[in-house]
Amino acid sequence: MFNHREMLRVMGLSNSCQVELVSFEHHREPLGIGESRPRLSWTIATAEPGWVQEGYEIEVRLASGAKPWSSGRVASEDSVLVALPVAVPSLVSRQRVEARVRVWGKGEVTPSPWSTWAWAEAGLVEPGDWTAVAVSPSMDPGEPPGAALLMRREFVVPKAVKRARLYVTAWGVYEVEVNGCRVGNEILAPGWTSYGERHLYQTFDVTALVVQGSNAIGAMLADGWFRGRVGFQGGVTRLYGERTALLAQLEITFGDGSTDVVSTDTSWVCSSGPIVSTGLYAGEHYDARRERTGWSSAGFDASGWALVEVTGYDASLLVAPQGPPIRAVEVLAPKRVERAPSGRLIVDFGQNISGRLRIRVQAPAGHTITFRHAEVLEDGELSLRPLRQAKALDQYVAAGRGVEEWEPRFTMHGFRYAELEGWPGDVEEGAVEAIVCHTDMRRTGWFECSDALLNRLHENIVWSMRGNFVGIPTDCPQRDERLGWTGDILAFSPAASFLYDCSGMLASWLADLMAEQDWLGTVPDYVPWVPLTFPLEPAAAWGDAAVFVPWTLYQRFGDLGILRAQYPSMKAWVDQIAEVAGERHLWDRGFQLGDWLDPTAPPDRPEDVRTDCFLVATAFHARSAAIVAEVATLLGQADDHLHYRDLARDIRVAFIDEFVTPSGRLSSDAPTAYALALSFDLLPGDQQRDRAGRRLTELVRAGGYRIGTGFVGTPLICDALSSVGADDVAYRLLMQQECPSWLYPVTMGATTVWERWDSLLSDGTVNPGDMTSFNHYAFGSVADWMHRRLVGLASAEPGYRRILVSPRPGGSITHAAAAHDTPYGRAAVEWDRNGQRLEVVVTVPPNTTATVRLPDPAHCPVEVGSGRHTFACKFRDPADDVGPSEPDPVDIRGEVRPQRRRPHARPSGGSIAGNT
Ligand code: BGC
Repeated sequence: MFNHREMLRVMGLSNSCQVELVSFEHHREPLGIGESRPRLSWTIATAEPGWVQEGYEIEVRLASGAKPWSSGRVASEDSVLVALPVAVPSLVSRQRVEARVRVWGKGEVTPSPWSTWAWAEAGLVEPGDWTAVAVSPSMDPGEPPGAALLMRREFVVPKAVKRARLYVTAWGVYEVEVNGCRVGNEILAPGWTSYGERHLYQTFDVTALVVQGSNAIGAMLADGWFRGRVGFQGGVTRLYGERTALLAQLEITFGDGSTDVVSTDTSWVCSSGPIVSTGLYAGEHYDARRERTGWSSAGFDASGWALVEVTGYDASLLVAPQGPPIRAVEVLAPKRVERAPSGRLIVDFGQNISGRLRIRVQAPAGHTITFRHAEVLEDGELSLRPLRQAKALDQYVAAGRGVEEWEPRFTMHGFRYAELEGWPGDVEEGAVEAIVCHTDMRRTGWFECSDALLNRLHENIVWSMRGNFVGIPTDCPQRDERLGWTGDILAFSPAASFLYDCSGMLASWLADLMAEQDWLGTVPDYVPWVPLTFPLEPAAAWGDAAVFVPWTLYQRFGDLGILRAQYPSMKAWVDQIAEVAGERHLWDRGFQLGDWLDPTAPPDRPEDVRTDCFLVATAFHARSAAIVAEVATLLGQADDHLHYRDLARDIRVAFIDEFVTPSGRLSSDAPTAYALALSFDLLPGDQQRDRAGRRLTELVRAGGYRIGTGFVGTPLICDALSSVGADDVAYRLLMQQECPSWLYPVTMGATTVWERWDSLLSDGTVNPGDMTSFNHYAFGSVADWMHRRLVGLASAEPGYRRILVSPRPGGSITHAAAAHDTPYGRAAVEWDRNGQRLEVVVTVPPNTTATVRLPDPAHCPVEVGSGRHTFACKFRDPADDVGPSEPDPVDIRGEVRPQRRRPHARPSGGSIAGNT
C-alpha cells in the first residue's frame, strides 16, 4: 500500500529531492571573483533511487531582495557548470550576484523546493577600476633576503560603515592589518604566478574591522618570489623587479549609499620592523624587541617613519584568484622531543609537512632561539644536506615581555624535525607546534583497505600532495627549488584531482603555463619560468603537461571551459613538436628528461635510464596529438580535428616503424617502453599488443616485482598491466616491500612520498645524490590506479557523469573502499572478499549513472542509477593459479640494457637542476 506521500510521488505531484551546495565556477570562496558570467553547479540530495534531473530553474538577483531573473524551466539534465540565464547582465566590478536553483526529476510535475540563495561577488574586473597608486618603501634596503618593512596610514571614517572591501596585492608578499587586526588569514599572498603576465590580487571583506572615527591600515611587505631568491644553483634574485610595492584600495560604502576610497598613496609612511630578514629558502629572522606596538592602530606615533614612493604598475595584469589561497590548515603537536647524540634538542612532529613552527616562549630580552628544519635524521642529527642551499633557518630574538608567541610570516619549510638551539628550559606542552600550510583546497577523495602498509602509502601520497600544492604545484617543499615542474604534475594530476578539488588552483597554473608559453615560444619545464642554467628547450612529458593536465581536469571536473581556455596552448605545444619532429614524425633530437629517475639510473645521472628518451618523446607526441584531436571535436573545431587526428596517426605509424618489431617487442626492452606503447595505443594490432603485454609482465617478473620505472613509466605501469589482464602482476608490484617499490619507503618509516625510490637507503643513510627530497608526489601517481582499479571507482564520462565501477581485488587484500565527492555528489565503492565470494557496495550520486563490471566472467556489466547498490559475485584471483613451480624472479637490472640512441647529453653550462 502506498502512503499519501508516495502516492503523490508516483503521480508525479510531489518531489523528493532537495538542491544542495550551489556553487560558482571552481570557487570555494566566491568573494572577489574574476568571472563576469560565473557558471553554476549544484548537487542533489534525494533518497529516491535512480534520480535523474529532467529540468531546472535558476533564479538570479543582483541584490538581496531585488526582483530576480528566472531562466524559466529549462529541460536539461545539466547540473554542473551551467551558464547563467542569458538575460542576466554580466557582472561588473564589485557586484554581488545571488542565485538559487530548483529542479525536476524525471516525470516529476512538481519542482523541488528552492535551494538557499548562494552568492558570489565580483572583484575589480576592469583595469580601470584600480584607482590606487602602488607605493614602495623609500627606505628599502633592497638586499634579498631583505627585511620585511612596515607601511601604514591613518584615515577618518565620518559615518557608519555598511560595507567595506579591501582590494590588495603586492609586488612581493604581504600581510595587512586594519586597526590592529589581521585582515584574512592568507599566507604568502598574493601567491606566485608568472608576475610578468598575470598577477593575483585579493579581495577581503573588512566591514567588521573599519569603524566610524579614526582608523589605521598597515601592511608588512617582504620580497617573496618577486624579488627574493628562487631556484637552484644559487638561484636568481630580483627576478621580476628591483623594488617591492604595495597596492591597496579600501572601498567603504556608508549606510546612506555614499562611498569613500582609502588607497595606497603618498600619505603612507614606512619603517623597518621586527622581521630583520626573511626569504622563502633562507628562513626568517625576527627580533621581537623591534616590534612597533600599535603600528596598525590609529593614534600610533609614526613621526619618525619614512615616506613612500609611488611606483607604476600595469593594472591589466591584475587578476582575481581562481582557486583558494594558501593557509595554515592544521596544527601538529610534537610526537617526541629528545636530545641528539650531539646534545642538540630535536622535536619530531611525526609527519613530514610543508609549513613552519609556532612557538610560545618566555625568555629574557635579547635571548636568541634558532630553529633549523629537516625532513629526516641521519645518525640522530638533522640531515641538512638534502636542503642544498636552502638554509631553512628561523631565528627569534625575545623581547622579554613574559610569554611571547611567534610564527614566521613570509617563509615556509619542508620538515618533520626541528632543532631548537637556545630554547630556554624544557619544551612544555603547547610551546612548539608545527603549522601545516598549503593551498586550502576542499578534500574530495578517500581510500582505505585491509592492508595497513597500503593505507599508509595512500596517506603518504595525500601528505605529499599537501606538501606541494602551495599556490602552484611544486616538486618539493624543502630544498632550493619548490618550482612548478611540469612533468611532476603531469604524472600526479589524476591522483590529485581525486584527492582534493584542485580544479581552480590548476586552472590558474595552466593560465600561467600558457602565458609563459606565449612569451617563450615553448612550454617551460617549470612554471612560472625562472631563468637558471636549465635549458629552455621542449622536453617530452614535461612540456606535454600543457595537454595532459587540462585533459585530466576535463575528465575529472567536467569543465569544458578549461579545455577552451587552454586550447591555444595545447595546439601550440603539439605544433611546436610537430615542427621539431619534421616529416619523419619522430621526436628524435634535442634535450630530454626521459624516464627521469628510473631506479637503474645512477644517483648522479637521473636521466640515464633504460628507456630510450626519444621513444618516450615520440610516444608523448603521439598521445598529445591524439588528445588535441579529441579536444578539437569537443570544441567544434572540425578542421582541427582532422588535422590532429591525421598527425596522431602519422606519429603512431612512425613510432611503430622505429621502435616496435613486427612481433610486438620494443627497441627499449624496458617496462616504461611497454607501458607507454600499451597505454598510448601505439601497437599496430592485437597480436603485437598481446606480445607486448606478455613481455611487460615477463620484465616485471624478471625484475623481481620491483619497480623498474621512473617519472614517465610509474604513472602508467599498473594500468598497462591491467589492460593486458595482468592485475595480479600489478598487485605484486604494488605490494612489494623490497627496494625499489612503493612500499619500501613505508617500511622505512616514510610519512610522505620520496623523490627517489631510495631517498633513504636501507642502512638508514640518505641517498648520496644531490637531489634527495623526501616529499615529491610524482611516484604517488599510483594512487590513481588504487582508486580506479583496485577499488574500482572511475570517471567514465567527464565529471563522473557516468561512473565506471570495476573493482579488481588482488594481493592479500580482503577489503577496500574509496569515496569521492564528484561534481554531482558523493560516489563510493566498497568491496569485501571472503574466499571466493566478493561483495561490492556502490553508492551512485543523483543525476549520474554507473556501469558496474564485476570481476566474474559470468556477470554481465549492468547500468545502475543513483542510490546504494549491493552486488555479489564469485571471484577467482588469477594469482591463486600461480603454483609453486613459478620460477624465482631473476633480477634483470644490469642485464637488459637498450642501445642508447644518443648519450643523454647535459646542456652546456653544467648539470640539470643541480641534480649532480
Ligand atoms: C625536480 C623534479 C623535476 C626534475 C627535472 C628536479 O630537480 O625536483 O621533480 O621534474 O628536476 O629535471
